[in-house]
Amino acid sequence: MSPGKGSGQGLAAVLQVLRGAADAVSGEYLAAQLGLSRAAVWKRVHRLKAQGYVIEGSPRRGYRLLAVPDKLLPAEVLQGLQARVFKGPVHHFETLDSSNNLAKELAARGAPEGTVVVAEAQTGGRGRLGREWDSPPGVGLYVSLVLRPMLPPTDLPQITLISAVAVVRAVRRVAGVAPGIKWPNDLLLNGKKLGGVLTEMETESDRISHVVVGLGLNVNNPEFPAELAATATSLTLAAGRAFSRVDLLKAWLEEFEGLYDRFLNQGFAEILEEWKGLTVTLGRAVTVRQGPREISGLALDVAPDGALLLRTAGGEIVRVISGEITPGPEAGPGV
Ligand code: BTN
Repeated sequence: MSPGKGSGQGLAAVLQVLRGAADAVSGEYLAAQLGLSRAAVWKRVHRLKAQGYVIEGSPRRGYRLLAVPDKLLPAEVLQGLQARVFKGPVHHFETLDSSNNLAKELAARGAPEGTVVVAEAQTGGRGRLGREWDSPPGVGLYVSLVLRPMLPPTDLPQITLISAVAVVRAVRRVAGVAPGIKWPNDLLLNGKKLGGVLTEMETESDRISHVVVGLGLNVNNPEFPAELAATATSLTLAAGRAFSRVDLLKAWLEEFEGLYDRFLNQGFAEILEEWKGLTVTLGRAVTVRQGPREISGLALDVAPDGALLLRTAGGEIVRVISGEITPGPEAGPGV
């Protein structure tokens, strides 16, 4: 699979001129503006149409952009994106097995920090702890981001928490609702799962070589398969209207970049405070499952390195760095 195919190189400039024009634009004008031959302009217009852009073309008047597809196309995502690092390349696919798988492959082959992989649908979307991620076409965000932080592997949990804070901020900005975070990075709305982040890391001796952060967000899903219906929700189901996946992705990239910069330059303390303000986990009785092992206790706090601190019935404080949380005996809904 060639990631270059989806990167939209050269198309963005044509789109920019078409978008800025009040009326039709002649092929000659486009060619002169962009320093291209008319044949090259025609080819680009043809490729844009193949991607779903509706462009009217008449030999007399020229080209007019009539409609933009509801897709996470690179030219849409990059348009006006306020990001310095997390600005692509954006690799877009109609279907992937898993955007995390491709992002890991690209990262292993040297893809730079800020590389974004987006799929309209996934056939093998993966969640945390070996679960599947339901990824039907055109309704959700299935996106993976390559990071190359100069950090020790022990800092991974912090990156995980940062990614969740960035999602909450992005959803608040675009949809006007604020999901809660279930430790470490499940996004809940009305007690149901709205999204989640799968963070995967490759190390080189005692350093992170790269991290892939994969976000799955239920945006315009009108419904869920029977086995998920009781536990999953989407922004559309919660708010009763559709949302722009492009705007949500742009907002996530922008918020993530701001938080990641702050983390690298000023440390994790302030971001952890923000995470604590957004979590629905602390102060609740919970059970953490780690494979066959279970630990129950009161979710007391999150340590500066991102670990969850549980106080067991025996009064012991246990540090948990991964696992699945379910409500403990006294916990209310939404934990
Ligand atoms: C979770 O279990 O809550 C994490 C879900 C993460 C799903 C996303 S969808 C995009 C990326 N590709 C994957 O295969 N998984 C992540």
